[in-house]
Amino acid sequence: MSIYQSLQSVTDCKIGQIALFGALLVGVYKITVFTLSLSSLVLDLFVLPATDFKKYGAKKGKWAVVTGASDGIGKEYAFQLAAKGLNVVLVSRTQDKLEILATEIESKYKIETRVVAFDASTDEKSNYTALEQVITSLPVTVLINNVGQSHSIPVPFLETEEKELNDIITINVTATLKITQVVAPIIAQTVAKENKKVRGLILSMGSFGGLLPTPYLATYSGSKSFLQAWSSALAGELKPQGIDVELVISYLVTSAMSKIKHASLAIPNPKNFVKSALAGVGRRNGAQERFATSTPYWAHAFMHFGIDQTVGVYSKLANKLNFDMHKSIRVRALKKAARLAAQKKD
Ligand SMILES: NC(=O)c1ccc[n+]([C@@H]2O[C@H](COP(=O)([O-])OP(=O)(O)OC[C@H]3O[C@@H](n4cnc5c(N)ncnc54)[C@H](OP(=O)(O)O)[C@@H]3O)[C@@H](O)[C@H]2O)c1
Repeated sequence: MSIYQSLQSVTDCKIGQIALFGALLVGVYKITVFTLSLSSLVLDLFVLPATDFKKYGAKKGKWAVVTGASDGIGKEYAFQLAAKGLNVVLVSRTQDKLEILATEIESKYKIETRVVAFDASTDEKSNYTALEQVITSLPVTVLINNVGQSHSIPVPFLETEEKELNDIITINVTATLKITQVVAPIIAQTVAKENKKVRGLILSMGSFGGLLPTPYLATYSGSKSFLQAWSSALAGELKPQGIDVELVISYLVTSAMSKIKHASLAIPNPKNFVKSALAGVGRRNGAQERFATSTPYWAHAFMHFGIDQTVGVYSKLANKLNFDMHKSIRVRALKKAARLAAQKKD
């Protein structure tokens, strides 16, 4: 029987006609969803104007709290929020780095700063009370949950050192949650006092490591994936109080953590990354399928969108490719460490 005859026998019977019509509808639905999603991605990334931070109290004497503020992406958040006219509370581990940064930001942008230094891996009550004491009388509207730690190099989960495992979970999860429990009530108070004429904003740093289950970075991957569910849940809870909550997803950015020094098409420097993150607040960019989530840098956005529209983030193929990539990064990292150790001996 030829293909034409087989097709005709299908179209001749009632069930065949219904099945074909159903398939057509599903096809049209999928193409429509894809087209709308792609158009929304392009609009978000390239057409819509940057988010105006006046709605979050910029140039109105309001404050932002930035964690992990002394380096990399966090330092850029601090600079760019100050440039928009928010006073900034700088939080991280090293007091002197924070003080130097505070002086630089104050003189450059003519705003006020406060610094709070603690080691977030310790999860001591005094960490959170120190932060609370500093911000309790400030009209805070913005919290950037940026502090985070990854594995020093990709490592099999069963060989992950206890300290590294504990630090990643404590910093990325426990400290982020507890800091939010300190700051969010103060944001809610500020918004209520202003009769919701300003809004609150809580941004937390996610990662492709959490978007895609990542073998050899399993603990980091799980911690960032946790932040996705937590942040989206919190977004629903805090919306009625006038607070926007958003997870910001990023692929690699040049920084001490990524150990990448040179920017490229897919790997921006912190300045360009943060510029896109702040410009795209409230929009999904590459995270079209996710509520209260944004993948703001354009190259990362297309990567996220492409993976979601093809193999999917939880697929076997994505997992295998990711595993192969991190296995090879581990081999290179171990070789480099051995080379450096040999050089030290000589
Ligand atoms: N870089 C990337 O490729 C990338 C990709 C995706 C997501 N992210 C996420 O983006 C965020 C920032 O990453 P980054 O690359 O900018 O990191 P980074 O350059 O290593 O900077 C980390 C910042 O966090 C602070 N910090 C580190 N450990 C701390 C601790 N135990 N207690 C208190 N503060 C601590 C550091 O303070 P000190 O200066 O005092 O050490 C520094 O200010 C992280 O959440 C990360 O997971 C990064």
